[in-house]
Amino acid sequence: MVILNPLPDGIRILRISTPEEALPYKASFAGAYQDIFSEPPYNERFFPSEAQGILKRYLATPENICLLAVRGKAKVVGFGIGVPAISKPDIARDIRGLLPVAHTYYLAELGVLESFRACGIGKQLVAGRLELIEHQKFTHVVLRVSAVRNRSYEMYLKMDFDDIGVYTEVHARRVDGRVSTDRRLFLSKLLSRRKRAQSTEDGEVEPFGTGT
Ligand SMILES: CC(C)(COP(=O)(O)OP(=O)(O)OC[C@H]1O[C@@H](n2cnc3c(N)ncnc32)[C@H](O)[C@@H]1OP(=O)(O)O)[C@@H](O)C(=O)NCCC(=O)NCCS
Repeated sequence: MVILNPLPDGIRILRISTPEEALPYKASFAGAYQDIFSEPPYNERFFPSEAQGILKRYLATPENICLLAVRGKAKVVGFGIGVPAISKPDIARDIRGLLPVAHTYYLAELGVLESFRACGIGKQLVAGRLELIEHQKFTHVVLRVSAVRNRSYEMYLKMDFDDIGVYTEVHARRVDGRVSTDRRLFLSKLLSRRKRAQSTEDGEVEPFGTGT
């Protein structure tokens, strides 16, 4: 596990890569996941087993990056998870033709417990993943935010993400027990220039292709 950058208040960011490494944190991760996404604008209901299953599936995905912000021994106060876009069929479908799917990395999950917000943990969970992405392979990152633009939207714009004006609907069980859809907006960011023989003469990045 790599300690990227210690934060104040005894909070550290850990990268976990295997189910064994996740063991001390998975129950606390599930609690944080439930709490964070039960708030507006998501209002989603996850059972602890579902939240733990989500972490397990991400850890089983090749080239995943799972970062946890941990306080004390094993209290998870935040998480930032990413996987290649191609490993998420719904994301791959939505971005095909807009971004090069095989070269796009998906920042899948981000959350910080309410009482630990506004001290830089969220930004570090984004920046940490951006740094760990394999830049030789991935040229773009993409993520979804609620179409009800909250502070995460502002945070990503400040971090040079672009609003690509593409929306999608997400089905989820809500805290009231009903299943409904909510709208999400895609943001993307160019990581680095693709090394291609036919790059344009002035060195500008070529227009996005499907890349697959
Ligand atoms: C989005 C989220 C992860 C940010 O976490 P955080 O630890 O508070 O983030 P940071 O402290 O690094 O702040 C990042 C930016 O958020 C904004 N922000 C943070 N606290 C804020 C506040 N109290 N009021 C307004 N904006 C605020 C600022 O733009 C800030 O950047 P700045 O410090 O350069 O001004 C957190 O609010 C969260 O978990 N929200 C619910 C889940 C969610 O929306 N996830 C994103 C889904 S893609």
